[in-house]
Amino acid sequence: MNFHVMTLFPNMINNAMAESITGRAIKAGRITVNAVNIRDFAGNKHNSVDDYPYGGGAGMVMQAAPVYGCYKAIQERILSAEDVKDNSCACERDKDAMDLADISKEEQQKECDNTDSYFFDDKKKSDDEKKIRVIYLSPQGKTFNQEMAREFAKEENLIFLCGHYEGIDERVLEEIVTDYVSIGDYVLTGGELPALVMMDTISRLVPGVLNNDMSAQTESFSDNLLEYPQYTRPENWEGKFVPPVLLSGNHKKLAEWYREQSIIRTAKRRPDLIGKAELTQKERELAEM
Ligand code: ADE
Repeated sequence: MNFHVMTLFPNMINNAMAESITGRAIKAGRITVNAVNIRDFAGNKHNSVDDYPYGGGAGMVMQAAPVYGCYKAIQERILSAEDVKDNSCACERDKDAMDLADISKEEQQKECDNTDSYFFDDKKKSDDEKKIRVIYLSPQGKTFNQEMAREFAKEENLIFLCGHYEGIDERVLEEIVTDYVSIGDYVLTGGELPALVMMDTISRLVPGVLNNDMSAQTESFSDNLLEYPQYTRPENWEGKFVPPVLLSGNHKKLAEWYREQSIIRTAKRRPDLIGKAELTQKERELAEM
């Protein structure tokens, strides 16, 4: 998964993503983070990227041109990375075929060099047709949730656009944005924190980012139920004991207990979710207790 972030504060993105699980995922090459400063595309000697709103009103509006320049630079980078990757794949595929046909290594390389341009042209065409998702973080967007995270996690590249001031010139939004996403009904000073929230959530779903692949499947929201309570040592903390079933080693009982606890917890803490969960008649009665 390659995250690209259009922002006026790239350090905010890079510093936060370099920590903890996302930091390890970057080091392991499971995710990449490319924070690009919109100011680098200001195109004027004061490096300004905002101006007064037409029609008047409070605050400043981010201009279309720097945002668009930043977007084009990211798009270019994605397309050229895909060209390199695809080209080497095509070449490797061809080499395998030529190995079978018993063609010498030198001849194979010559053949690959000759055919490179075909693959570049074909690939460019399909890349242009395929839209890379550009997510604009805005309180006006659709509220982010785990299901959306699962959808976004299927992409190879995601571009986030972080606004500041009173907003961004509508014309560039119309031109490049594919998804408007909010992280909740409150207003932040900019899109960086929401972009970080989304990247963190999506990163956990990328294969190999969490130690144990199961932990992304058995967690809260996976089937509209919250996760069951967790305990660790000591067995007796200040007179409060770990539920005995967890020490029993009986896997069937354990699974039943997890399910039951998830249902009870969801009914109590998130009654809005429990109606969406698939429950048996007996489980529904448990939820209604
Ligand atoms: N920008 C400002 N507030 C926001 C929010 N709640 N969600 C996404 N982007 C925002």
